[in-house]
Amino acid sequence: MATNRTIKRIGVLTSGGDSPGMNAAIRAVVRSAIYNKLEVVGIMRGYTGLIEKQFMGMQSHSVSKIISQGGTILKSSRCPEFKHKEVRAKAYENMRESCIDALVVIGGDGSFRGANMLFKEFGLPVVGIPGTIDNDIYGTDFTIGYDTAINTAVQAVDKLRDTADSHNIVFFVEVMGRDAGFIALSTSIASGAEATLIPEIPTSIDKLCEYLENERRKNKTSGIVIVSEGLETGSAFEIAEKVRVKLPKYETRVTTLGHIQRGGSPTCNDRVLASVLGHEAVQALLAGKSGVMVGQMQGQTVYTPFEEACSRHNEINKKWYDIARILSL
Ligand code: ADP
Ligand code: F6P
Repeated sequence: MATNRTIKRIGVLTSGGDSPGMNAAIRAVVRSAIYNKLEVVGIMRGYTGLIEKQFMGMQSHSVSKIISQGGTILKSSRCPEFKHKEVRAKAYENMRESCIDALVVIGGDGSFRGANMLFKEFGLPVVGIPGTIDNDIYGTDFTIGYDTAINTAVQAVDKLRDTADSHNIVFFVEVMGRDAGFIALSTSIASGAEATLIPEIPTSIDKLCEYLENERRKNKTSGIVIVSEGLETGSAFEIAEKVRVKLPKYETRVTTLGHIQRGGSPTCNDRVLASVLGHEAVQALLAGKSGVMVGQMQGQTVYTPFEEACSRHNEINKKWYDIARILSL
């Protein structure tokens, strides 16, 4: 998708759930823009800042020493009012008044829906960068923050394993992912978990109990069950309760890892991905591209129209699910 507007000043914002590496992406956008003689305006708190005109000029030094920091210096928000056309019109007016000619949106598919509306309704040049721990966005092999999140989850499960082994406990560990099982599956393989429950594959409590019983017959006295959030069967607490009813002799515990998966210093992979995508987003705008998300697939930069990035999902590799089971035998 192309636009022929002249771009002198760009805005950048982070929206939706924060993810480790968003700062590295902001830094890359700011520095690449300045390198290309563009001015950069940081928009605070995602679309909320766009509506409330919370803008700040950004220089090269504004992004010094942030590459290693989690969170986002521009802050983020969920802004339901942005779904209303008149609210978006106000946001666009604010950008016009501040001479912002184009926008880089760092966030997940919800954020790209908002970005797509700005592109379609006002012809604003907008490019998206995938920033979410969930890794569920179509058009990129990895999203910014996923690698850090799975490393955090694996470290946590390794620690829980010590207590599971010492006290003969079956732990049910709930990880994030909204409605996608990427974090759960990778965490499970990397921590050698005994079972994995993900939204993409129906969960049977009977089968899980049968499996746990088999494990016990093989003298495994403890276990780790990784439970992705977003399961139809329920949360880790609910699943543990159902198992407890069927296997009352088992000692069970539940740990929900929660937002620790969204924080912390980004891994090398996330910093590199964020740096490359931030640079490529500015290049895309300068090349006249708009209404697209910039991603990396098999080492190549690819541009996916927002329409497509928002209507499809990255899919887990179901073979990995089988591998997780085989290796935990
Ligand atoms: P993420 O970007 O991580 O998926 P959300 O789904 O919460 O997070 O979306 C972030 C923000 O994007 C929302 O709070 C809202 O401001 C905006 N947004 C989401 N969906 C739409 C939509 N259909 N139209 C306009 N804006 C939207
Ligand atoms: O999209 C990132 C994410 O952390 C999901 O994994 C999770 O379902 C959701 O955001 C949690 O959002 P909140 O912090 O608003 O509860």
